[in-house]
Amino acid sequence: MHSERKQEHLRICVEEDVETSAVTTGLEHFRLMHCALPEMALADVDLATPLLGKTLRAPFLISAMTGGTPAAEQINRNLATAAQRAGVAMGLGSQRAALEDPQWVRTYRVRDVAPDILLLANLGAVQLNYGYTVTECLRAVEMIGADALVLHVNPLQECLQPQGNTDFRGLIAKIGEVCAALPVPVIVKEVGWGFSEDIARRLQEVGVAGLDVAGAGGTSWSRVEGYRQAAQGRQIAEAFSGWGIPTALALRLARRGAPALPLIASGGFRTGVQAAIALALGADAVGIARPLLEAAMQSAAATNDVLNQFVEALRIAMFAAGVRTVKELRNATLICDADAFGVRIVSANALWGE
Ligand SMILES: Cc1cc2nc3c(=O)[nH]c(=O)nc-3n(C[C@H](O)[C@H](O)[C@H](O)COP(=O)(O)O)c2cc1C
Repeated sequence: MHSERKQEHLRICVEEDVETSAVTTGLEHFRLMHCALPEMALADVDLATPLLGKTLRAPFLISAMTGGTPAAEQINRNLATAAQRAGVAMGLGSQRAALEDPQWVRTYRVRDVAPDILLLANLGAVQLNYGYTVTECLRAVEMIGADALVLHVNPLQECLQPQGNTDFRGLIAKIGEVCAALPVPVIVKEVGWGFSEDIARRLQEVGVAGLDVAGAGGTSWSRVEGYRQAAQGRQIAEAFSGWGIPTALALRLARRGAPALPLIASGGFRTGVQAAIALALGADAVGIARPLLEAAMQSAAATNDVLNQFVEALRIAMFAAGVRTVKELRNATLICDADAFGVRIVSANALWGE
C-alpha cells in the first residue's frame, strides 16, 4: 500500500501536469541589478557555502523525493552520485516505508556512492502523533548515515489523500523533544505550501536547526493527490490549487520569524537565476525536487546535466551582478516590482475597520 503510493507519486510527477498554475513563486517580481562592468573574471565567482557543518561546492540541495518502492533504489543512487560529483546536499524521501518494512532499507542507502555529501534523513513529523518517537527518528538517521534529520510537515497533503494522518495536535512541542534528544541537527520542511512568520518563530523557539520553506509555486501536492482520486476527491483537491504561501514570500516571512536559522528556499526553482534571487532574499541554499526526477530515472550523468544548468546559471548571474561570493549576494541590489509581493498580510478582523 505504502509502496504503491510512492510508485504512483513518481509516475504522476513525471507524466501529469503537476506544476501549480494558480500560484507563482513570487520570485518573478525580483531581478538582480545588472552590472555592466563587474571588474572580476567569471572564474572569480566562488559558490562554496557552509551548511550544517559541511561545505557545499554550490548552494544547492536535492530535495527529498523518494524511497520505499523498487524504482526508488536506482533513482536515489543516481541522485546521490550526481550530488557527490557536484558537491551539493541531498535529502532522501520519507523513510517510513523502511521503518515499517526492512525490505525497503536498501532503496534509501546511498552513502557508498556519496561518502562526502551533506545527507538528510526524512520522516513526516505527524508520525510523532501515530506512534513514532525519538527512537524511530534515530533509526532513520542511522539507517542511511545521515548528517541531519528533516521532519516534513504536510497537513494539507494528509487531508487530500485517502486515510491521511490528520491529527496535528501538539506537534510543535514533540518536534522540540526530538531536537533536544537527537545527536544530529533537525530541520523542519514543508512540502509546497510554505511557512508563515509565526510558525518559523515557534520552530526556532523549540530548537530546530534549520528550516526548508518549500513554498508554493512549484510542484503542487494538491494536484498530485488529485490525480490519485475519483471525481469527488479530485474536486476537493482542485479547490486548493491556489493555496499556499508563495516561495519568495515564505522565505522573507521565515527569515523574519527565524533570523538566526539556516534557511533553505525551495518550491518551484526552475533556473539558477531564480536561485540567485532567493539567496539575495535571505536563503542559505536552494532546494530542487521535480526538475531532477526525470533525469534521475535515466542516469547520474543526466542528473548532473540538470544540476549543472542550475549551478552555471547561478555562477553567471552572480558574475553579471558583480557579486563574488554567495554571502555577498545578501548585499546585492535588487530591482523589485513596485508592490513586489502584491499582497498585504492582515488579520481578517482588521479589514472590517477600513
Ligand atoms: C516525487 C516526489 C516525492 C516527494 N516526496 C517527499 C518526501 O517523501 N518528503 C518530503 O519532505 N518531501 C517530498 N517531496 C517534496 C519535495 O521535497 C519539494 O518540497 C516539493 O516537490 C517542491 O519542490 P519542487 O517544486 O522543486 O518540486 C516530494 C516531491 C516529489 C516530486
